[in-house]
Amino acid sequence: MLEKQIDYIRSITDFIPDIAVVLGSGFGRVAESVKTEAVIKYSEIEGFPVSTLDNHKGRFVFGYIADKKVAIMDGRVHLYEGYSPQECVLPIRLLHLLGCKTVIFTNAAGGINKGLEVGDFMIINDHISSFVDSPLIGKNIDSLGTRFPDMNRVYDKEISNLIFETAKEYSIPIKSGVYAQLKGPQFETPAEIKMLSAVGCDAVGMSTVIEVIAARHCNMKIAGISLITNLACGILDQPITNDEVKQTAALRINEFTKLLTETLRKL
Ligand code: HPA
Repeated sequence: MLEKQIDYIRSITDFIPDIAVVLGSGFGRVAESVKTEAVIKYSEIEGFPVSTLDNHKGRFVFGYIADKKVAIMDGRVHLYEGYSPQECVLPIRLLHLLGCKTVIFTNAAGGINKGLEVGDFMIINDHISSFVDSPLIGKNIDSLGTRFPDMNRVYDKEISNLIFETAKEYSIPIKSGVYAQLKGPQFETPAEIKMLSAVGCDAVGMSTVIEVIAARHCNMKIAGISLITNLACGILDQPITNDEVKQTAALRINEFTKLLTETLRKL
């Protein structure tokens, strides 16, 4: 399947990206800052999981940001949409096969650590995958990677430092911490957030970790940035809505684009 999909993409563009960027909820506008070489909708690619969300466009944008050759994943799919972990990570494997050696993941997240504020960016320095199934369950694809991949220092220190420095340079609020992926789509209960806090999670969301596992499996360099769009349930005693998540992303999109562009320039 992967070969057929690569062949299809190659029939449209021979562009070889170096760096992949996976855009989280509400970050689609970043794709507008790409000097575009080619755009391919996921729905054109046979067997490709297609996003069911209105704020996830569902397309690859190939081109240049800050003179770097990038492949932007404008929209991702989630477990709660009914896709399997293997389906959710298929785009990451394609990006690897297309040539990307590095991948920067982004997402919207709920802040658990009391030091996080709404609107902060959080560099992901580690994750907890224990609440979701691994995308590596089943027969190992030996051509991609080893049966038992190591998970120490998954998030590249050098790229994370560059993100941190760049944020400081432009006075963009930035922290770092541990991200946990839960399946969703319901937001967590206060008891669940207490549990996550007790086991060392700083922020929570419904994506990224399984994709990171797949990227690590095929030996890509990885960095991750969460935008804290809301404080997690029970941290504030008020309902969380998807509108709040979207609003925070909209407020931070210019800073996010700056952070990404200027980090890419230094890579
Ligand atoms: N929980 C889970 N996922 C999220 C949240 C949250 O509070 N905010 C944004 N994505």
